[in-house]
Amino acid sequence: MKTRVYDDHAALSRGAALALAQAIGEKPDLNIVVATGSTPMDSYAELAAMQRRGEVNCRRLHVFQLDAYLDVADDDPRSLYGWMKRSFLDPLEIPDERVFRMDRGNADPQRNCDAHAALVRARGGYDIAVLGLGPNGHLAFNEPPSMRDAPTRVVPLSEESIVSNARYWGGRDRVPPLSVTAGMDLLLAAKTLMLLVSGEGKREILRRTMAGPVTPMVPSSYIRETARSLVLADKAALGESL
Ligand code: F6R
Repeated sequence: MKTRVYDDHAALSRGAALALAQAIGEKPDLNIVVATGSTPMDSYAELAAMQRRGEVNCRRLHVFQLDAYLDVADDDPRSLYGWMKRSFLDPLEIPDERVFRMDRGNADPQRNCDAHAALVRARGGYDIAVLGLGPNGHLAFNEPPSMRDAPTRVVPLSEESIVSNARYWGGRDRVPPLSVTAGMDLLLAAKTLMLLVSGEGKREILRRTMAGPVTPMVPSSYIRETARSLVLADKAALGESL
């Protein structure tokens, strides 16, 4: 695991966009899986601004969906696909045929998960995973406890995720209870795993990620086991001690 420290959220977002642009410059059709949530939004906006200035071309990326709420349709603006479309696919002008959604059309959601994981593997795995850090150390919706080899699957949201997502749903009782998530196995196999962490509110879970026990109770702690992981954090998240 490597770490890059930035003065603030704006610098972190620029740094993440630059790192992505460099990787995309080297391999314009790379396989990327991207988090939604608040942390990476400005990074994606920076990347789109770079594309408008002709500094990077993201139109040939292969984009994989990271996670989804189980019973929320893709055309619902609150769906994670809808969020990814607004924040990443549309600004970067990525055509539909280069996007691999988590197909949830089948009555058997686990079969969909297995098929999606098989597709990711058949296409060579993720070159880059852009992830945010959950308040409980979840990566995507790999809620604690999640082992390093946890597969792509249906996961009930943890209490902490329900509380932290309540703001998007108008109250905790409206948060969908089930998600589907790319597994820890796929994420930890990414050729580059970028974990973006911003703000004081993430300080304690970032400390546990980087310096606590490596444990399924903090799924993000597994990123320490691979040299292919890169933590991009601002000073507010990192605090004084690290
Ligand atoms: C979103 C996702 C989540 C978030 C995490 C951090 O697709 O998979 O794991 O990345 O909950 O969310 P923010 O960035 O809103 O703090």
